[in-house]
Amino acid sequence: MGQVENRMIKAAGLAGVVAGDTAISTVGKEGLDLNYRGYSIGDLAEHSTFEEVAYLLIYGKLPNLSELDIYRRKLVGLRDMPRELKVSLEQLPSGAHPMDVLRTGVSVLGCLEVEMEFGDVREHADRLVGCLGSMLVYWYHFSRTGKRISLVSEETTVAGYFLDLLSGETPTDKHRRCMDVSLILYAEHEFNASTFAARVVTSTMSDYYSAIAGGIGALRGPLHGGANEKAMELIEQFTTADEAERELRAIFERKEKVMGFGHRVYRDSDPRSDIIKAWSRELSGGSEKAYLYPVSERIEKVMWDEKRIFPNLDFYSASAYHYCGVPTEMFTPLFVMSRVAGWSAHIIEERGVGKLIRPSAEYTGPQPKSYQPIEKRS
Ligand code: CMC
Repeated sequence: MGQVENRMIKAAGLAGVVAGDTAISTVGKEGLDLNYRGYSIGDLAEHSTFEEVAYLLIYGKLPNLSELDIYRRKLVGLRDMPRELKVSLEQLPSGAHPMDVLRTGVSVLGCLEVEMEFGDVREHADRLVGCLGSMLVYWYHFSRTGKRISLVSEETTVAGYFLDLLSGETPTDKHRRCMDVSLILYAEHEFNASTFAARVVTSTMSDYYSAIAGGIGALRGPLHGGANEKAMELIEQFTTADEAERELRAIFERKEKVMGFGHRVYRDSDPRSDIIKAWSRELSGGSEKAYLYPVSERIEKVMWDEKRIFPNLDFYSASAYHYCGVPTEMFTPLFVMSRVAGWSAHIIEERGVGKLIRPSAEYTGPQPKSYQPIEKRS
């Protein structure tokens, strides 16, 4: 009784384990590269917009012109937040990490706009795509200046809206498009840790907001989404490529990891990296910290020459975001603003599976012992 059949596979970190099926994206599959619902990441980054990609992920098809227009208007209409959510955000200190702010904001919204049992989860997904940027920037300004910013903007895209609210100025076309492309690149990535966390929560038949809060928690760490902030902390130490190379060799000596490099699934390169790298190069031209780009390039070269480890999306996102005027602590939250589309698609898909995710563990604790009454224990 209670015995589990002994046909288990053990893999540290679930590496190499196929933990389910998905029709949402492919990562690192022979001949398929990265695609979202059959569309290559290269095509999407070059020709589409984040709103199209969010629609593709959440609704399962690319929108036509009128669907996209309606969807954009819908997202704009979902930017404002309930008063109770604003009041909650106002209680959070300026020193809080913005990822904690987003996790909290999502939880509060989940109390105010509770997911009904037979409701359409896509309505909640759109709600978060529309208002995560509002949460972040509303809290950011209030906690620093006490000012309750207006959430009204002429900007019709998620990317432009975020940049507008953040700086209070209309973004340049290049900054808006770089942000848009980065949101496309970050939107979906199969069974990565945060998506899997969201699927685990969903598999218990929990609600949408709990699953998203779980995803945010998993994304926060530097081995996952937090790597873009750590990459920035590394590159901003240097003003020349030679300095960067010297320190990198010292990092190798100390046997430390370089955040923004390597990947669990990709072996030779991350197809998203060259796309955001091109944006970093493009924007470096107009920046007083143009040197961050050659610094980054040298780090990439030495990592490859010495370790055969390549940059993942997080590495060049750091300098690209910096050139867009985004403070470092906002880098991972931007990942949330985008990945919420992928998480939502996976939550919908997981609900269709309807099977509890519950692996087993190999026991490494003590052998059975007899219980000692407390007065007899040493
Ligand atoms: N810097 C230095 N060495 C590395 C790195 C790195 N970034 N990544 C892997 N290695 C080495 C690692 O030390 C190990 O060496 P050894 O076999 O000698 O001990 C070997 O490569 C295998 O590494 P691992 O950590 O066991 O491999 P994994 O498949 O578990 O790791 C990873 C994948 C992404 C966690 C890892 O590459 C890493 O920690 N990278 C840095 C964090 C990072 O950039 N994360 C973002 C991932 S992609 C986008 C995202 O999700 O945000």
